[in-house]
Amino acid sequence: MALPIFLSMILVVLATQVHAQIKEYDIRKYGARADGKTDNSKVILNVWNIACQAKGRNLVYIPPGVFMTTAVRLKGPCNGQMLFQIKGVLKASSDPQLGIDNWISFQWMEELTVFGHGTFDGQGAYAWPYNNCKESSSCELLPTTLRLDFVNNSRIHHVNFTNSKNGHMSLLACHNVQIDHIRISAPADSPNTDGIKIAYSSGINIFSSDIGCGDDCIALLPGSWNVNITGVACGPGHGISVGSLGGTQQEQDVNGLLVQNCTFSGTLNGVRIKTKTSSYPGIVSNITFQHLTMRNVYNPIIIDQKYCPFRSCAGGASQIQISGVIFKNIHGISNSQLAINLLCSKSRPCERLELDNIDLVYEGREGPAKAQCINAKGVSYGTQKPPKCF
Ligand SMILES: *[C@@H]1O[C@H](CO)[C@@H](O)[C@H](O)[C@H]1NC(C)=O
Ligand SMILES: *[C@@H]1O[C@H](CO)[C@@H](O)[C@H](O)[C@H]1NC(C)=O
Ligand SMILES: *[C@@H]1O[C@H](CO)[C@@H](O)[C@H](O)[C@H]1NC(C)=O
Ligand SMILES: *[C@@H]1O[C@H](CO)[C@@H](O)[C@H](O)[C@H]1NC(C)=O
Ligand SMILES: *[C@@H]1O[C@H](CO)[C@@H](O)[C@H](O)[C@H]1NC(C)=O
Repeated sequence: MALPIFLSMILVVLATQVHAQIKEYDIRKYGARADGKTDNSKVILNVWNIACQAKGRNLVYIPPGVFMTTAVRLKGPCNGQMLFQIKGVLKASSDPQLGIDNWISFQWMEELTVFGHGTFDGQGAYAWPYNNCKESSSCELLPTTLRLDFVNNSRIHHVNFTNSKNGHMSLLACHNVQIDHIRISAPADSPNTDGIKIAYSSGINIFSSDIGCGDDCIALLPGSWNVNITGVACGPGHGISVGSLGGTQQEQDVNGLLVQNCTFSGTLNGVRIKTKTSSYPGIVSNITFQHLTMRNVYNPIIIDQKYCPFRSCAGGASQIQISGVIFKNIHGISNSQLAINLLCSKSRPCERLELDNIDLVYEGREGPAKAQCINAKGVSYGTQKPPKCF
């Protein structure tokens, strides 16, 4: 009898010690109100700053309930390790927030964890009517839901994002960040609501996530190095894209991307590399897209080096060199006859492309699926449906 009691006492002591290692800062205890209306940004910032000063492991806790907040910039470096647990809903302002670049941002820190099964609700519907960048040169800047700048060795997991005003998540100059078990949802026709954008970052590992939005599910922008994407369900949306690239001078290259075991459902593109016509120089290399399922995807495999979103594109060929891209074990249904479109640059033809075991079916009246290769050099292996073009 004495022994089990003794053991359970040890367990209780151990459990309290483990718990005691994390100091919790509940925003409600500092005056946050879960009425969905009061702006809690000052409280959240204040709680963050208190937690960030403390040593050890510090947890900023967003309890169940709907907490409205306008933009907050949560800055490091912190004296300890920061955890941001969102159990409830962080709700953005119903004001469109024109001219504000980010809603919640984390900057300059190491070992941040954002988790908690709660939701970042960007209230995008109030801002989308102001998204007129396609028509106007003086268009309004709208806030990205979650921004990470200069954040290293961190993890974002088990959180939901919905209806961002602009993109849902954006990483700039981050290293070794894991993003897993997240869910992003916004309507297919919501403008520029990209899922995750990555730029000037390396060692990014995204897996087991569900992304549906009105733009790219994931976009790899200049300076994306060593990025793995595994087990992502994308749709609706514009697929997983490298680019667009070549739009500005001195862009860093994109190197080392592995996209695998993903499904694309009802998306505009599956996997895409896009560079602007008449671009600045750059390199895209060492990319593998493998074990992918396409369900009614308009452009399952596409390289577009003549990307020109605005009417004002100058003529001339892209100066981005695409080299070493593998497409392997990709199957499913294409919603257009041109299931594979490799449209490369006349002045920098694509090199070392590989098509290995491709089985894409088109069921339309025009006839079976086709592939097009323009200025594209490479090899094909195994099954080739549509018939290979190099
Ligand atoms: C993050 O890592 C990069 C590259 O290793 C380093 O230059 C930067 O100072 C680090 N940032 C922080 C906030 O520690
Ligand atoms: C978050 O998404 C998960 C699915 O990944 C879902 O089960 C859960 O109900 C969502 N939570 C909220 C608060 O919407
Ligand atoms: C990506 O996967 C490759 C191959 O499995 C591995 O070597 C690399 O470390 C991974 N990178 C990240 C950021 O997880
Ligand atoms: C290709 O990318 C991987 C990371 O995914 C990296 O480890 C490797 O060094 C890269 N290879 C070349 C030749 O750049
Ligand atoms: C990806 O899918 C392939 C083929 O179904 C499978 O062999 C492989 O183990 C999967 N990889 C991961 C990381 O899930």
